[in-house]
Amino acid sequence: MASQVKDPALAAQGHRNIEWAEKQMGALLSVQERFVKEKPLTGVKVGMALHVTKETAVLVKTLIAGGAQVSITGCNPLSTQDDVAAALAEIDGVDVYAHKGETKEEYYDFLNRVIAFEPDVTIDDGCDLVYEIHQNHPELIPGITCGCEETTTGIIRLQAMVADGALKYPMLAVNDSKTKHLMDNYYGTGQSTLDGVIRASNVLLAGKVLVVVGYGSCGKGVANRARGLGAKVIVTEVDAFCGLQATMDGFLVMPMAEAVKHGEVYITVTGNKHVIASKHMKEMKDGALLANSGHFDNEIDVNWLNDNNTGKREIRPFFDEYTIGDKVIYLCGEGRLVNLAAAEGHPSTVMAMSFCNQALAVEYGVKHKNELTPDIHQLPAEIDDGIAALQLEAMGIDIDELTPEQIAYLASWNEGT
Ligand code: NAI
Repeated sequence: MASQVKDPALAAQGHRNIEWAEKQMGALLSVQERFVKEKPLTGVKVGMALHVTKETAVLVKTLIAGGAQVSITGCNPLSTQDDVAAALAEIDGVDVYAHKGETKEEYYDFLNRVIAFEPDVTIDDGCDLVYEIHQNHPELIPGITCGCEETTTGIIRLQAMVADGALKYPMLAVNDSKTKHLMDNYYGTGQSTLDGVIRASNVLLAGKVLVVVGYGSCGKGVANRARGLGAKVIVTEVDAFCGLQATMDGFLVMPMAEAVKHGEVYITVTGNKHVIASKHMKEMKDGALLANSGHFDNEIDVNWLNDNNTGKREIRPFFDEYTIGDKVIYLCGEGRLVNLAAAEGHPSTVMAMSFCNQALAVEYGVKHKNELTPDIHQLPAEIDDGIAALQLEAMGIDIDELTPEQIAYLASWNEGT
């Protein structure tokens, strides 16, 4: 099979970017070193739909080091780094189908090229690959050992599949490891979302009223970092506990109908649809700037913006201006995940942990294939804690160990007041 990328001549730049990522991904490289020796994935065909970034390339190289063959496409039309895709296409055992700015038709065509590879293991970010296999290629399901899901939105879709009795092969919930969602979603999305907004618009966040929609793992990261840059942050939520957490963390919490009277910059990170709807945009201030960092491009009702403006201009790439009545609204990255559309996604260090989870999930799934049922499974705590230890080691940080006396104390119930 031949890879399909934007421009093979970009490969040299891609390799340099991958090397730079590797320098910051020591934890994943230590997994890679073990995989080279033990070859736990010999003969395993891994089909991937992940953002094709320099960090994903390090994961692909790790799987190849373990003996796997890989066929990969993107999981968002705007998130592919074309130089990295070109570099990946040069690696033996890898087929890659992706370019930045692909159409919806190309997106599904590429997904189907990965499916035509007949993977033993799937790796998804957002569940499109699993969905496409279940809907249109159920004949492949008996041959699939397991799948691994990278993000919250994918887990939500899988839970809906389980509730409908529709999930037919085992899924490992990589997102739910502590070393994934409490690191990647919090620190990674927190930093890179603001990076995306800034690269798209270069607005000064200090002094701006910035509305964060959703105070989950990602929203907490975004809100706290925006505050660090001097923004006056408002949080909107639908979950009482998350709304309470945001309040206790010192943010103003209010319904969106109220927030629209104050907001200057809006960032959605909910995994939910139309959290910024037409009724909200109609009430926003002139010059409001919108960005989304949730998985799909439906968090902001972009279709309404496209259908109801009296003028749309591209101010510059990934930054559009819409005239709505007597005011303008700005939209970053077409409403797609702004950190990947307008910036480079998460920094490599945090992706090292996410992709240790992916690599070790594939190994775990292959090793335990006869025990896993067609359901959503968490990775064992030993793997999750082991990744935290690998990351600390990569950062050169030591921690204390429990003494025998402390171990005995924690296991006993005799000592009290
Ligand atoms: P989460 O489930 O921890 O948090 C989402 C929060 O949004 C919840 O607290 C929920 O109550 C709230 N919410 C839902 N509907 C809402 C509404 N109408 N108004 C206000 N709040 C609402 O999810 P997490 O992990 O924070 O992920 C959020 C989204 O970001 C998902 O789509 C996930 O896949 C995506 N994601 C994106 C990344 C990126 O690179 N941009 C990286 C990681 C996750």
